[in-house]
Amino acid sequence: MTALADQSVLLTGASSGIGEATAHALAADGADLSLLARRKERLTTLADELEASHDIETLVVPTDMREEAAVAEAVDRTAETFGGIDVVISNAGLGRGSSVEDLSTEEYQAMMDTNVDGSFFLTRAVIEHLRRSEGNLIFVGSFAGKYPRPFNPVYAASKWWVRGFAMSVAGQVGEDGIGVSVINPTEVRTEFGSKDGTAFEDRFEPGEVTEPEEVAEAIAFAAAQDNSTVNELDLYRRDKFSGW
Ligand SMILES: NC(=O)c1ccc[n+]([C@@H]2O[C@H](COP(=O)([O-])OP(=O)(O)OC[C@H]3O[C@@H](n4cnc5c(N)ncnc54)[C@H](OP(=O)(O)O)[C@@H]3O)[C@@H](O)[C@H]2O)c1
Repeated sequence: MTALADQSVLLTGASSGIGEATAHALAADGADLSLLARRKERLTTLADELEASHDIETLVVPTDMREEAAVAEAVDRTAETFGGIDVVISNAGLGRGSSVEDLSTEEYQAMMDTNVDGSFFLTRAVIEHLRRSEGNLIFVGSFAGKYPRPFNPVYAASKWWVRGFAMSVAGQVGEDGIGVSVINPTEVRTEFGSKDGTAFEDRFEPGEVTEPEEVAEAIAFAAAQDNSTVNELDLYRRDKFSGW
């Protein structure tokens, strides 16, 4: 038995990259999973794979994190299906563009709507469930949420927001027994960046930066905490500070 066996987990951004790897890691630990993202086919394929390989239950909830009513409904469906929610992983997110001067309002809005509004809609909806379970709320932040990121100030600011929000929410709900964690990776080989050019999984060779499975293990560690909280976990490529 692992700490996550029979725990119910709501996971956003489950259709690729870090989210998909996290689904595999948590399923291996015996958790039941509610899988959220917009691409339904990918979620369905993933759910079938997970149920075939592990003795767990899955729920596929195609959801756009920018839609507050859809997020609230996904949370309700998850709680009803599994009889509560023990762990929530706020992972859906994206980066667009680079230079502030050239950033379109559409690109700006895409990052703010998904990374900021989506995190808020989810958190607001899950607190009552996590209070009941005394569970864990885990945010996927970023190195860019702790240090300046000249390549993309708006993406960085959205992740500084996520981190500041998470820490402050921790102050609000810690006495209720809810653990709040932020996992901050540097570059990870996923589809991240694919809408603007080359996906990180193609830009970097295996071994050059972090693999999604490594971030998944960090998330699983935070998710398994029953008493203390992983406040923040930084998972960096080893050469990140070279030439700093
Ligand atoms: N890769 C990196 O280098 C890196 C580094 C630090 C932090 N991060 C963070 O890690 C998280 C996961 O990213 P990743 O690297 O795994 O990239 P990814 O492979 O592109 O995955 C992003 C996930 O977010 C979902 N998503 C995006 N917009 C959404 C929306 N409006 N509604 C619902 N789901 C949405 C996508 O699903 P659908 O498209 O199917 O909706 C997908 O499952 C993000 O928060 C990212 O900022 C990534």
